[in-house]
This record gives sequence, C-alpha cells and structure tokens, in this order.
Amino acid sequence: MPIAHVLSHAKRIKRAIIPGLAVPPQPEDTAMFDHTPIAAASKAELYEELLLQARGLMQDEPNLIANAANFAALVFGQVPDINWAGFYFYDGTELVVGPFQGKPACVRIPLGRGVCGTAAESGATQLVADVHAFAGHIACDAASRSEIVVPLRRADGQLLGVWDVDSPLPNRFDEDDRLGMEALCGAFLAAIDG
Ligand code: SME
Repeated sequence: MPIAHVLSHAKRIKRAIIPGLAVPPQPEDTAMFDHTPIAAASKAELYEELLLQARGLMQDEPNLIANAANFAALVFGQVPDINWAGFYFYDGTELVVGPFQGKPACVRIPLGRGVCGTAAESGATQLVADVHAFAGHIACDAASRSEIVVPLRRADGQLLGVWDVDSPLPNRFDEDDRLGMEALCGAFLAAIDG
C-alpha cells in the first residue's frame, strides 16, 4: 500500500475516535484502516510494507497503550503463522503483560525467566526455534512451538519491556524476521518517544 494511503487511513481513524465530535463523522471520516493482507514476494518485502503501515498508524501519536494496542493488532493481522503477538512492560520489578493479540497470557514474568525475561535481561533479541528445548520457557499457549522476543529500551536507555511473537510452527522465525521485528520495534519506540 502506498504511504499516502496509509497516512490518510491513519488520519481517518484518529478523526473517527475523537470523543464529543461536534459534527457527525462523514463516510470518508469513518473509513477504517485498510486490513487487506499485504501481498509481498518475500519476508523482507512484507516487513518493509509493514514498517510503512506501522509508522502511518502511529504518526503523531505518542500514547504508549494506544500505539502498543494498534501495533499488536497490525502485526498479528499481517504476519502469517503466528498465534500470539504482544508486549510485556517492565514495571520496575518484573515484566507485566500489555496489549496483545492471541489467547490470554501469563501476567508477570521475572527478569531472567523464560524467553521474555532472558531478552529483557540480556538486551538481545531471542530467536527460539523450539520452545520445548529452551530451558525455562514459559508456556502460555500450549500451541506455541517457536518464538521471537525483542527487548525494548527507551531513548534514555531505560528498559521499557519486550515485544513477543509466538508461532504454532517450529523454527518459524529467521534472520529476516529478526531484522523486520527489530525495525518495527524501532518505529514503535520512536513514536512513543516523540
Ligand atoms: N513464552 C514466553 C512467555 C510469554 S507467552 O509466550 C505469551 C516466555 O517464555 O517468556
């Protein structure tokens, strides 16, 4: 989808949700974000397009929860073969589940525990080809077989949390996914840090 489209869709969403809008929304204003599946020839192309859509969706919006919710919905709807996509945010003590798409998940994860806690503590993206072979993996959805977790740090260096994506397929995530997910997380962090 061309960037101009993405931006105009994002603006329409914002206009449609302004509370107490004096003038009833016109049909043009109530148009929703285009959820058409991205037709991409490669993973790299999929992530390139997804990055444009994510930037459009979060443009001029620094709210953490709003952006996290839309970001999770966008990725979950466009990336194939995944069964969970969402955030865990650091509350100063441990990771606490944030906006996500998928089945209800475990709420709190100590730093250093599971794939999420390992990513948060080490500061390195975790690509887990087989979650059953990862010592300490925390099973939230029994269907999950592989997982990618990207640590999130704010511009001032503070740990914000992690971005976690699970797949029912073993070995679902590779270097293209790591680069793509890290770029998406970069756009998320840039949006909330203004
Ligand atoms: N599997 C994660 C826990 C979170 S769920 O996958 C949503 C982990 O081991 O940290």
